[in-house]
Amino acid sequence: MKIFCLILLMMCSSSKAGHALDSEQQRGKALLETLCGRCHAVSATGRSPHVDAPPFRTFGDDKLYDNDFGQRLQDGLTTIHPDMPAFRFSRTDAEAAVNYLKSLQAHKRPK
Ligand code: HEC
Repeated sequence: MKIFCLILLMMCSSSKAGHALDSEQQRGKALLETLCGRCHAVSATGRSPHVDAPPFRTFGDDKLYDNDFGQRLQDGLTTIHPDMPAFRFSRTDAEAAVNYLKSLQAHKRPK
């Protein structure tokens, strides 16, 4: 377990050095932290404050990462879960947010 944590830590620190977020991704992250951070874990580590809310890094490449996801951010996320307050992203904000979310999955992907 200790070894595993160490490897994970090394992966995180090296990926931070290697793939610094670009300015759009940083904006996306800031947005998500403001809007979603009180329930979801937004960054590469940490737990979601809301027990049922999945950390953003765990979304993976499933259905949420099709092109509709950005559109859903613009339409309001109530389409995803009724308990969630409705957020409406502008197109550029949605793009920045999705861009950040993708970058977050990339270095966490198994395989
Ligand atoms: C008030 C708390 C709260 C806030 C704020 C919140 N969420 Fe959620 N979100 C949840 C909960 C709880 C779930 C889990 C719902 C479930 O599993 O049924 C969830 C699930 C999700 C899912 C997964 C849905 C799925 O199909 O599995 C996505 C994507 C998501 N949230 C995105 C966001 C984004 C993006 C924001 C900010 C714009 C946000 N959430 C803000 C509580 C919140």
